[in-house]
Amino acid sequence: MTEEPSANEFQHLNEEVRDIWDANADFWDQRMGEGNDFHRDLIMPNQLALLDIQPGDNVLDVGCGNGQFARQMADRGARVVGVDIAERMIENAVSRSQDYGDRVRFAVADATDENAMLKVGEGAYDAICCTMAIMDMASIEPLSSAVRRLLKPGGRFVFSVMHPVFNSPKDLVRTVDRTETEDGLIIDTYSVKISKYIQSVAYKGLAMLGQPEPQHYFHRPISGLLNVFFRDGFTLDGIEEPVFGSDTAPNGTLDWDNFNQIPPVLVVRLRPGTAR
Ligand SMILES: C[S@@+](CC[C@H](N)C(=O)[O-])C[C@H]1O[C@@H](n2cnc3c(N)ncnc32)[C@H](O)[C@@H]1O
Repeated sequence: MTEEPSANEFQHLNEEVRDIWDANADFWDQRMGEGNDFHRDLIMPNQLALLDIQPGDNVLDVGCGNGQFARQMADRGARVVGVDIAERMIENAVSRSQDYGDRVRFAVADATDENAMLKVGEGAYDAICCTMAIMDMASIEPLSSAVRRLLKPGGRFVFSVMHPVFNSPKDLVRTVDRTETEDGLIIDTYSVKISKYIQSVAYKGLAMLGQPEPQHYFHRPISGLLNVFFRDGFTLDGIEEPVFGSDTAPNGTLDWDNFNQIPPVLVVRLRPGTAR
């Protein structure tokens, strides 16, 4: 992403994104189930607070994966449509949602294709969410434009991403330094070291250890991420940087639980302006 890809290059990259998520879908479904610790402790409570779902709200879940967050929103009274680029993700989402009837529906749709997104209902949604998927999308300009047109006036868009500063840059290293004070006290200092941040860059990595294929990540600095939406008239009116705090990991390990001053995810709420 250092240079704009040609249309052909972009299409090829995007097809690769889709195929990799298809290949990872069953592994993802088994490991994610109805939510892992990142979701339970950091993402879900903050997204639900910012979404402020009211019974009967129509909500769109973009990049819904196996539908775990879609079902959590339906449990709170929303009528949810979940879309994902990967067909196998949607098959798993459908089979996990049998008990929900038409309170949760799913479709394959590519968020980098504005016209495809509009087919799920222009002006139909009280709220739209995108959970930990924007950093997996090869382009986000079409999503911004689509979200503006899919929302009802006064609607809200809430998304979470790997924190662009502390958990996204390529070559990021997490470290723990152990020092002993003069009176024999052991002090562990947990830090994140980054050497590249400001440039948007694509690289491959693992969302979950052991997944069949590494996936593409699209790192964007905070300005690069939010300016796309600001240019489409969105305003930011909610932001959370949740940290783990349960202190259950063994001291001295690189478990995120020990990094209780460093947020691994960023959750924001955006609202479209009045101009459409
Ligand atoms: C890290 S998973 C998150 C899944 C789900 N939101 C969750 O939190 O459980 C990222 C998801 O984004 C989807 N995705 C990636 N690019 C996409 C695109 N262009 N359009 C729609 N979905 C996409 C992937 O198929 C994958 O299911």
